[in-house]
Amino acid sequence: MVLDLVAPVLGRTPEDLEPLIEIPPDLNKGDRALPCFRFAKEEKCSPQELATRWKKAICSKRLPEEIERIEAAGGYLNFFITKRILTAEVLQGIYASQGKYGFEKRKKPPVAVIEFSSPNIAKPFSIGHLRSTNIGAALARIFEARGWRVIRMNHLGDWGTQFGKLMAAYRRWGNAEMLREDAILNLYKLYVRFHEEEVSDPTLIEEARDWFSRLESGDAEAKELWQWFRDLTLAELKPLYDRLSVEFDYLWGESFYIDKLPTVLKELETKGLLKESDDATVIDLEPHGLPTALVQKSDESSLYLTRDLAAAIIRFRQFAFDRMIYVVGSPQRLHFQQVFKVLELLGHEWVSRCEHVPFGHISFGDEGMSTRKGNVVFLADVLDRAEQMARKIVEEKNPNLEEKEAVAKDVALAAILFADLSAKRVKDVRFSWEEMLSFDGETGPYLQYTLVRTESLIRKYDRPIDGKANTDLLSTSEESALIRELSLFPVVLRRSEYEREPFLIGQQMISLARQFNRFYAAHRIVDAPEGTNHARMLLVSAVREVLITGLKLLGIPTLKRM
Ligand code: ARG
Repeated sequence: MVLDLVAPVLGRTPEDLEPLIEIPPDLNKGDRALPCFRFAKEEKCSPQELATRWKKAICSKRLPEEIERIEAAGGYLNFFITKRILTAEVLQGIYASQGKYGFEKRKKPPVAVIEFSSPNIAKPFSIGHLRSTNIGAALARIFEARGWRVIRMNHLGDWGTQFGKLMAAYRRWGNAEMLREDAILNLYKLYVRFHEEEVSDPTLIEEARDWFSRLESGDAEAKELWQWFRDLTLAELKPLYDRLSVEFDYLWGESFYIDKLPTVLKELETKGLLKESDDATVIDLEPHGLPTALVQKSDESSLYLTRDLAAAIIRFRQFAFDRMIYVVGSPQRLHFQQVFKVLELLGHEWVSRCEHVPFGHISFGDEGMSTRKGNVVFLADVLDRAEQMARKIVEEKNPNLEEKEAVAKDVALAAILFADLSAKRVKDVRFSWEEMLSFDGETGPYLQYTLVRTESLIRKYDRPIDGKANTDLLSTSEESALIRELSLFPVVLRRSEYEREPFLIGQQMISLARQFNRFYAAHRIVDAPEGTNHARMLLVSAVREVLITGLKLLGIPTLKRM
């Protein structure tokens, strides 16, 4: 309604302005705000001048009933919506949204390839891969909610010199029996042993190189071993992904692109980008302020970066994406800068649609986390540990609960996933078992607990929610604050898409839960006076809807009881 009012005065369409509208964080600054900075540049005046001018123009006509008043402040045009009307709009909007409050539908959805998770074959799924999986899956859902068509891509690390090492190690010390027992763990042990022994036994390195070159030239025995290692690892990954409810459209690992490598190398050659250095073929990126990129070794074995070039080219050809997002840890920042620069030098204009979305790493607070071998933390161990602790907590809090086991699993997952999304993604996260499982901190279980509160109110009310309840009766300060939180959700959703920050939704959920619990503590709800009770239950059910929507976007399980 704000848009319809201001657009004609400003000579723009409501669609032009829609993405710009913000919700001021501070109640004193109104309910909606239009920043004038961008327009001020065009109009060659200061943002505040423009805001004042626009305010006058809008107020010269009679304001519609929905708008209480308008202020021009700090380069913003602030709109104060008549509270009664905001309340009705938000609550009825949520009531009618069928779990899609704030979602966007576009006639022609743009396409986003989102690459995430991308663990390495024959190596443990580390806690770092959890971050990629978690952030990536959340972004995929957020993009879908915002009207994109999303392609979920898993760039499995299933090719590279490490396979030569693995095969050499397997032939020396391995057997089928141990892989049948625990494939990933034992393959990983073989890998670690290789690195321990290569120091004193250089023939190992030779053997590994030989195996990898056999693999790259299509040798049957090498290929068979590789396939077997890959299948075993995928079989172990499957339950892990199921546990996290994550799915992919494509498992195109690095091996998927190797046929394309000769063409890419040829292209690089034709463009005159290649240079021979001592033991490799390289691209000199120093003029572009980047380190030299290695594209092929002297023994012609292929490289990670070259496989990434091929992958980008093939994916663009296949999907003609509007956006391609790589959810990969910050240490690979330079790598992606190199990849994108080379694609640019090759003349692929679409590289401007590619984007590395980095994230920091997780460390463990309190008692830390033991590692089975080497310096990696296995995700499965982390999940088990959290479940064990959650089981104890659930047992203490609600010993008579049915399905305690399932609830404990969901609480554990909520704790881990939310802790992972508790800060801007580039920040490092410190996991603390005590804190992340707490029911009243800024945690996943706290959100589940709040949701369960709404569920039990709805059970107690025991009749259908009345979408037409008289919302004028919701006028206490707790109710107004809560309604405003609800009205923020669509804006936060949009911002989490623009900034690729699922964490913003997490924060919004916490604020919503806090406001709800304040309201819950201050007022009678189901047994409030007739009329008020129906209006308050409409509010409760709106909170429930939005909590569920938010939790689902973050991949956090929702609960009815706990
Ligand atoms: N497998 C890699 C790793 O575990 C991550 C792959 C990132 N994606 C890419 N297109 N290079 O470090």
